[in-house]
Amino acid sequence: MAVKVERIKLGSQGLEVSKLGLGCMGMSAYYGGPKPEPEMISLIHHVIDSGVTFLDTSDVYGPHTNEILLGKALKGGRREKVQIATKFSITHKDGKMEVRGDPAYVRASCEASLKRLEIDCIDLYYIHRIDIRVPIEVTMGELKKLVEEGKIKYIGVSEACASTIRRAHAIHPITAVQNEWSLWSRDLEEEIVPTCRELGIAIVPYSPLGRGFFSTGPKLVESLSEDDMRKKFPRLQAENLESNKLIYERVSEMASRKGCTPSQLALAWVLHQGDDVAPIPGTTKIENFNQNIKALSVKLTPEEMSELESYASGVVKGERHAFMSNTWINSETPPLSSWKAE
Ligand SMILES: NC(=O)c1ccc[n+]([C@@H]2O[C@H](COP(=O)([O-])OP(=O)(O)OC[C@H]3O[C@@H](n4cnc5c(N)ncnc54)[C@H](OP(=O)(O)O)[C@@H]3O)[C@@H](O)[C@H]2O)c1
Repeated sequence: MAVKVERIKLGSQGLEVSKLGLGCMGMSAYYGGPKPEPEMISLIHHVIDSGVTFLDTSDVYGPHTNEILLGKALKGGRREKVQIATKFSITHKDGKMEVRGDPAYVRASCEASLKRLEIDCIDLYYIHRIDIRVPIEVTMGELKKLVEEGKIKYIGVSEACASTIRRAHAIHPITAVQNEWSLWSRDLEEEIVPTCRELGIAIVPYSPLGRGFFSTGPKLVESLSEDDMRKKFPRLQAENLESNKLIYERVSEMASRKGCTPSQLALAWVLHQGDDVAPIPGTTKIENFNQNIKALSVKLTPEEMSELESYASGVVKGERHAFMSNTWINSETPPLSSWKAE
């Protein structure tokens, strides 16, 4: 039977999305090579027809090709049915990652994304990582202008610390914070989630399936191609996997008891975090999407939530991200008074 996909208000500014979203990153980048375009377009059409309308991309996925793919998939009347979220700020220069939040870059990125997506307005525009050289007020000031000009509707941030979220929100209301949130990545619960709730900001959990670990367990590692970024992920390294696989086994065992798959159970746990939470699991396969959407029907009692949480509590080995040590995750920006506009 088809699952009815509930719609929720994201943030306090009027954005409405499907309770479950779709992460499009893996279709074009990072998780092995780009996947065949016709198949990805069929997948996106199927997803929209199923009632999942909250689509997540970024200019850095590809780079650029993921937005172009989405632009093609949304032709023929589908654009009006969806909410497009994209991101800017991560760029590559001489093979090195750079993060930019200066006003000229913000504007140029937005205009380039609009062209690639072949749309007039981005529904939700995130700062992907925080540029620690630019006061957040300056980046937000340019985003605010883009809202006033009708080029973007709502503003989001990803992987910002609580004080940066507060400073950003004081310039223009933030609609959503996108951070990693799953059974084994819960660091945001301490400060980010309470800050968002206090300010009326929604939370969009990325990698809710633990980048596929909660779907296939340790076998995931065997299937990764050489160019798959997850090969570098600390939690998937042999020395950590030995211990981390026990978490998957416990989730799997509980899923059998509940009559669902581990993927559905892990996703259901994220979906149960509140009415202000809309996760964006990624997939490149219709059958996996069809499985994941059924997580919306998995009901968990508070006792079952606690039981699930206990499996990963205090035992996860390895940082959640290969780039945790980089200064762009959870960092402060300089005070506005330090900024000298060019
Ligand atoms: N803001 C940020 O910095 C940031 C960072 C990372 C990701 N994101 C966003 O979040 C989205 C989701 O995150 P993610 O893709 O990293 O991780 P995820 O959603 O936790 O996991 C995706 C992986 O799980 C696999 N998978 C999904 N459903 C499955 C199923 N039912 N059975 C078996 N395997 C399954 C997918 O493989 P198949 O393709 O084979 O289904 C894919 O490899 C991304 O697409 C991106 O839009 C944002």
